[in-house]
Amino acid sequence: MLLTDPKLLGALAELQVERKPAVRMASWTSLGIGGTTDMLTVCERRHLGAVFHLLRAHGIRHRLLGGGTNLLVGDGELPWVALRLGRVEPTVRIEGNCVWVDAAEDLGRAITTCAKANLGGLEGLAGLPGTVGGALRMNAGAYDTEIGKLVREVVVYRAVHGRIDTLPTDQFRFQYRRACVSTCDILLGARLELVERPCREILDRIYVCNFNRRASQPLSEKSAGCVFKNPAGASAGRLIDAMGLKGFRVGGAMVSDIHANFFVNRGRATCAEMQQLIEEVRERVWSAFHIELEEEIVLWVN
Ligand code: EPU
Repeated sequence: MLLTDPKLLGALAELQVERKPAVRMASWTSLGIGGTTDMLTVCERRHLGAVFHLLRAHGIRHRLLGGGTNLLVGDGELPWVALRLGRVEPTVRIEGNCVWVDAAEDLGRAITTCAKANLGGLEGLAGLPGTVGGALRMNAGAYDTEIGKLVREVVVYRAVHGRIDTLPTDQFRFQYRRACVSTCDILLGARLELVERPCREILDRIYVCNFNRRASQPLSEKSAGCVFKNPAGASAGRLIDAMGLKGFRVGGAMVSDIHANFFVNRGRATCAEMQQLIEEVRERVWSAFHIELEEEIVLWVN
């Protein structure tokens, strides 16, 4: 365990940081893979700087955890603590056709709240698991919707300055499945500009997206969504499928037989097995098509 020093524990308690010792990260990730570490939940955003300072002073690394839905976490005892943002009410605040959403809010719940206020635009993302913070960090996209295109301002904790800033999007770039955030910045929320349309119409669109998703993706299995980004002008899933790799497995890690860019945990897969599967598939696609696949999922293996 990394958090043992009584002084450090006392200081974290004073900052109202909730601590869960020896958490199995497998229970906090949609892939169901990951070793053990201590978990800290920070509710008061203004305490973030003090928490970072304390951890650094004790030589302890941290990783910021959202919903854990796009992550491959290492096996065994992990060399960092997992830090989470606690929910702070109100997590969704509507202003005209704009909405302020907190990073800790569940993405699906945020979309439903907006729909009830007759605000659409996020329909394609309904059904994606995870938090708003994770969706912003990864510039989540599906069915012609990309969250970054709707963002007008981001709220960021800037560790270097020790303060919370609101930045317009021209200072903050979103790319395909990635937001350009400095490693010292933490996304705390965003203002999105949505489209006014009747709630019924929004719910109908959500229904159609969910129907298509259920028909083409292994939603009932443990996965982290698409493993690889789509290479320019091609589809990673189609390339892997064309190699006949659906059902190909390394131990408990398997290429889904529904969508070839989803790798599923068929029971007790380890991170090492999943990594081996990723490398094997990447090499085979490279030898056949001379296309280098790049991971979309985020690896926290050391
Ligand atoms: N295809 C196959 N075999 C497969 C999978 C797909 O031939 O095993 C073909 C499909 O028939 C289709 C094409 O490949 O012609 C594209 O497939 P799909 O429509 O499923 O979209 P995708 O490009 O594989 C992207 C996103 C998904 C998102 C869907 C729907 C990436 C890496 N993936 O998938 O996002 O849900 O479009 O909009 O951009 C994610 O990011 O984790 C994710 C799941």
